[in-house]
Amino acid sequence: MNDMTPTREQRTAALEGMGCKRKRVEDIRFTQGKGSYVDDLKLPGMLHGDFVRSPHAHARVKSINSEAALKVPGVLAVLAAETLKTVNLAWMPTLAGDVQMVLADGKVLFQNQEVAFVVATDRYAADDGVAKVVVEYEPLPVIIDPFKAMDKDAPVLREDLVGKTSGAHGPRKHHNHIFEWTVGDKDLTDAAFRKADVTIKEMISYHRVHPSPLETCQCVCSFDKIKGELTIWGTFQAPHVIRTVVSLIAKLPEQKIHVISPDIGGGFGNKVGAYPGYICAAVASIVTGKPVKWVEDRIENLTATSFARDYHMTTEIAATGEGRVTGLRVHVLADHGAFDACADPSKWPAGFFNIVTGSYDFPTAHLAVDGIYSNKAPGGVAYRCSFRVTEAAYCIERAMDILAQKLKMDPAELRLKNFVKPEQFPYHSALGWEYDSGNYHTAMRKMMETVKYAELRKEQADKRAAFKRGETREIMGIGVSFFTEIVGAGPSKNCDILGIAMFDSCEIRMHPTGAGITRVGSKSQGQGHETTWAQIIATEIGIPADNIMVEEGNTDTAPYGLGTYGSRSTPVAGAAIAMAARKIKAKAQMIAAYKLEVHEDDLEWDIDGFRVKGLPEKTISMKDICWAAYNSVPPGMEPGLEAVSYYDPPNMTYPFGAYICVMDIDVDTGVYKVRRFYALDDCGTRINPMIIEGQVHGGLTEAFAIAMGQEIRYDEGGNVVTGSFMDFFMPTAVETPHWETDFTVTPSPHHPIGAKGVGESPNVGGVPAFSNAVNDAFSFLGSTHIQMPHDYWRNWKAAKALGAVA
Ligand code: CDP
Repeated sequence: MNDMTPTREQRTAALEGMGCKRKRVEDIRFTQGKGSYVDDLKLPGMLHGDFVRSPHAHARVKSINSEAALKVPGVLAVLAAETLKTVNLAWMPTLAGDVQMVLADGKVLFQNQEVAFVVATDRYAADDGVAKVVVEYEPLPVIIDPFKAMDKDAPVLREDLVGKTSGAHGPRKHHNHIFEWTVGDKDLTDAAFRKADVTIKEMISYHRVHPSPLETCQCVCSFDKIKGELTIWGTFQAPHVIRTVVSLIAKLPEQKIHVISPDIGGGFGNKVGAYPGYICAAVASIVTGKPVKWVEDRIENLTATSFARDYHMTTEIAATGEGRVTGLRVHVLADHGAFDACADPSKWPAGFFNIVTGSYDFPTAHLAVDGIYSNKAPGGVAYRCSFRVTEAAYCIERAMDILAQKLKMDPAELRLKNFVKPEQFPYHSALGWEYDSGNYHTAMRKMMETVKYAELRKEQADKRAAFKRGETREIMGIGVSFFTEIVGAGPSKNCDILGIAMFDSCEIRMHPTGAGITRVGSKSQGQGHETTWAQIIATEIGIPADNIMVEEGNTDTAPYGLGTYGSRSTPVAGAAIAMAARKIKAKAQMIAAYKLEVHEDDLEWDIDGFRVKGLPEKTISMKDICWAAYNSVPPGMEPGLEAVSYYDPPNMTYPFGAYICVMDIDVDTGVYKVRRFYALDDCGTRINPMIIEGQVHGGLTEAFAIAMGQEIRYDEGGNVVTGSFMDFFMPTAVETPHWETDFTVTPSPHHPIGAKGVGESPNVGGVPAFSNAVNDAFSFLGSTHIQMPHDYWRNWKAAKALGAVA
């Protein structure tokens, strides 16, 4: 070896593979304003569509008159339900097995529901046309409070379902009932409660919020009448699923539909489902023969295309006097709005809410979820969480704090006492999941030591004494949260969407010069897939990440994949990438053996190529193997170096984390200050620590927003009163607290590279940490549970109700 020969460390570093803080390659274009988003697309002759929307939450549509609108210069067409009926598209199926109106058919069921679609030569003309469409409504009684939806005299919302005693998920108990879903052992759980020394019961609400990505939902549809082909560019988190859904509902052959997701400015679950805008733009393009663009504005996004949460969770825990949990009983009232359009895997009407036993070893549990209709927007999307997991984590983490309060135990100690122990993994939960790996005690203790937990509790006790003496008007809260996520939907035995198993896919093509392209079935909305997918390949096959181009989002070129949401990309697509890379490596080994004139078994892998066992100077690099693949492969072998992998994971992955929030609240104003927020995440093998940190920062910021103010709120008449960023809390850098991040590494035993997802975790674990901090502060004044969101005004109201403010 001469001085110029790179060391093993230098060869490893040159790859920028897994574990490297590789800079995000996509940021080169994003930071220069060179991203290519749907709204950047301008096609010759392109038309623009805009919706007439309902001002009422519930009303009969008596008539729609478009005469005046059609006279507006530039307006070419006005679509209404009657028009869509001619092509059988007035209603569309939802992912949850329900149907949804594309345009109001006889009545409207939520404020801002789509009533008519105006198509014009430009967006302004379309808007002017919208203003001229005359709709006659007859208002009907409204249901906003989910607890009133199943009252005897509650108005019938879904007239299309009258007389239907069962739906996609079994029997319906009432005309506004959608499904009841139960899991667990009721008798055993009831018995645990009868025997318990201590029980708690609380109705814990997780209010309605919205993912509100900066880029709203949008599309451009272009129908080529000659070829009979439809091309759709759209903000789709799951482009292949959109292609299949369009094929099924529009009865177009799937090969004649091209779906392209260009750069996406955030999704957070909002861009998974199919919305009326997509259907109307496609129909308008078919009718006019021109490309049609539809771009939602902010108010439309917040009020019409999906929502998240709206879960009302009556939660009971049974425990021994020493604080050992013995049973969990949860009933959820799930408000789905006007149509059940939840984006869950088909068999799971309440998503993976049965992860509600959390990180604790409950011997028995029982869960019942009732889904109901109300006069609110449909959706129920997984807002930066795996299907309903954030609701479950919030439910159990609040309940554990409430139990600690009743037992007069420290909440961290109660958690440590009840954690699933390392030797119990793989752990079978009482509600049916098999947790792959975890080391909860280590994570919790690391968190407690880092933040000096005991000292914080001492400081809190001193502050409480000072408050009692009248020396301060501030109360201090310490919010502990320990969460277990379930991500990576999913194994085909558990998960499908419309019958399609939730696998994911990767294709790798290596070129002769040692560069390559990989196409993946996932679709980044900002998570940095172009950076990290190349890192997996770099480590697996020893080609520098910079030499691998990553492409996603084009259904004509990428292999079929189920898309990106619920942190499934790393657990599923990431595994497909590793498996495809291993196929490349296996072929490369045969070529290497031929070139080095040895048997394959005499070769061993060495960072970026193969070497002959026992003869370290006899090597061939992967770069040279790529060249050889195109000119000197072993006799009988096909030339080229490509591989495809479709990966059906054997199980989900179960990342976890220990979070703590320290907060002071001024009782006279309700103003809070987040003094400290520490987040320890364990997502197994870490591909890119810098990207993970960015994911955690983003998710914590959303968690902060949700817990401390973000809310989609309706008044009694069904008007959305938080329909813009003036009212819907969207934190900026000014309000956002400082985040301290940390980690432990417990690899997934079944994932090819041991990685678990991470993108969702901070939203899931962050919300209970904030809410527990507020509740911990107020517990000192005698409260048990205060519902989110905890904005200044509500904090002040709580202080007043508890007698702390005159
Ligand atoms: O599905 P989604 O991309 O939203 O979530 P994810 O699988 O949690 O990945 C988010 C980002 O974090 C991706 O760029 C991953 O490659 C990266 N990541 C990582 O570097 N290491 C992990 N163990 C998990 C995710």
